[in-house]
Amino acid sequence: MRTHYCGLINESLVGQTVTLCGWVNTLRLQSHVAFVDLRDHEGLAQVVIERDNAAAFATAGELGYEYCVRVTGTIRKRLAANDKLKTGTVELLAEKVEILNAAKDLPFALHENPNEDMRMTYRYLDMRRPEMQTMMRTRIKLVQALRRYLDARGFQDIETPILTKATPEGARDYLVPSRVHPGQFYALPQSPQLFKQILMMAGFDRYYQIARCFRDEDLRADRQPEFTQLDLEFAFVEEKDVQDFVEALIRHVFKEVMDVELAATFPRMTWDEAMRRFGSDKPDLRIALELVDVADALKHVEFKVFAEPANDPAGRVAALRLPGGATLSRKEIDLLTEFVAKYGAKGLAWIKVEDLAKGREGVNSPIVKFLDDAALDAVLKATGAQTGDMVFIGAGRWKAVTDFMGALRLKVGKDRGMVENSWKPLWVTDFPMFEYDDEEKRFVALHHPFTAPKVDDIADLRANAATAVSRGYDMVLNGNEIGGGSIRIHRPDMQSAVFELLGIGAEEAEMKFGFLLKALKLGAPPHGGLAFGIDRIAALMAGTESIRDVIAFPKTTSAQDLMTDAPSVVGDAQLKELHVAVAKTDANKA
Ligand code: AMO
Ligand code: AMP
Repeated sequence: MRTHYCGLINESLVGQTVTLCGWVNTLRLQSHVAFVDLRDHEGLAQVVIERDNAAAFATAGELGYEYCVRVTGTIRKRLAANDKLKTGTVELLAEKVEILNAAKDLPFALHENPNEDMRMTYRYLDMRRPEMQTMMRTRIKLVQALRRYLDARGFQDIETPILTKATPEGARDYLVPSRVHPGQFYALPQSPQLFKQILMMAGFDRYYQIARCFRDEDLRADRQPEFTQLDLEFAFVEEKDVQDFVEALIRHVFKEVMDVELAATFPRMTWDEAMRRFGSDKPDLRIALELVDVADALKHVEFKVFAEPANDPAGRVAALRLPGGATLSRKEIDLLTEFVAKYGAKGLAWIKVEDLAKGREGVNSPIVKFLDDAALDAVLKATGAQTGDMVFIGAGRWKAVTDFMGALRLKVGKDRGMVENSWKPLWVTDFPMFEYDDEEKRFVALHHPFTAPKVDDIADLRANAATAVSRGYDMVLNGNEIGGGSIRIHRPDMQSAVFELLGIGAEEAEMKFGFLLKALKLGAPPHGGLAFGIDRIAALMAGTESIRDVIAFPKTTSAQDLMTDAPSVVGDAQLKELHVAVAKTDANKA
């Protein structure tokens, strides 16, 4: 249908007859000439249609934005080059213009930033936009680079089932009813975790898969109900083997796709240190602000808001010094107080250091009256506060303070333009094995239940479960968790003990994971791995906040596909066949 791409015509074609196909990007009709910028996935070409060519000129009069057309003509040099355009030195003088398809009643103009719902409903129009084309292509390049690297290193790409049994990764399962087994359901995989472990037991040694994962959880900018992992597993490895390999992989793809040189070795930080210094298990190291524990300085004060958590092992009093922050207005401080309240903060104490040399007289703070000189001095020293700085203090339960002070650190860092323009990867290691779920009154796995503990001794693990450390690790980039993995349990007795600690009894373990326990008893090798969130890495590379921009057909925050209108109601006959009865609720009565 065509001889060339619009975006690739150049001076070497001057004088030649070419045929281009594409969409009308812009259109200028004048009395004796029409200009059309024709767009395809390679870019734009200017088409000139002169009135002398009566048929073509008449067709030009029928055109509209986003019409799909084919133009044949001769390439000629432009009188005045447009240096904003890759093809700006040439144009196509049309001989024949054909409308391949009209685009009447366009729902939005592509160059005007359409709203999110419109973009999702008319995703094909949205994706015609050059920004979307560029972002999607970044993802494509990323996946190509990943595959090339792994294929060249003996990794085997093996598919694992989509219709399967639940693989817990901490979210709810999507279920698929079985027609042939009334009342039974497949679960869509939250990840290929158990299959890739079993592939190691099957002797494949090195596995990868670009795998779709399904998780029914609350959606955010960096979470979709179905998303894509680069899933990896290695037999006969320890932490360092996996980490060194995938670190080199990430460095390679950043170089290849982005021409960015990441650090020669990524810093490693324990979970404990990350939570203490940054209030997050995925610290954004581009922001040079740190939390400082000041409980020791405040144990003896009468102010209960500080003294109680300072003396409670489950409490935390953390300070954050904001250089130059004394300029914050009362209003701004109130907004920050409201901001941390969303993370469960009961208040936010602050000290403006107006003149450090003047001690108590030199600070402005609603809480300084509750602090004696020694306490005030110790807090200022611990944070390294200088004249002109602001010191925030958060107090309360350890988890809440860590979360809200970590969120405050990011917020003030971003608000005040303190985010360094760079790439800051790191490893977070030594995660707690378990987290106590206050609602369910039981331990839950911080990674997944197949992650090995640091200790080999089962009695030791049982006795110290609350403080046990796992062999899990996450890769973090600029405040995003881009990958997570671990060394796995490969001993059946340890796996059973961990299930038991997670409140999964022997019978339930047998029912849900009997196949795994059986396989572990038949010569399972030590193994470990990791999975990267491809959507997240692609979004970072594409410079967008939302992974929706690098997924062709994403879901909205309410897990809908507005283009196809999924999920949708199905007919009674189909439900009957699947042995499914739908409970009538207010939501589905209509
Ligand atoms: P994990 O649950 O940490 O580990 O997932 C690995 C990576 O996948 C990405 N990710 C997501 N991306 C988009 N939307 C989501 N809802 C979503 N959830 C996770 C993140 C995350 O780091 N089986 C283990 C891996 C292993 O142990 O090898 C797993 O799935 O970038
Ligand atoms: P209150 O005694 O609740 O009126 O609080 C006195 C001061 O302590 C106010 O400036 C509050 O913002 C601050 N404050 C209250 N609760 C906390 C908390 N959990 N952490 C830090 N500061 C707090």
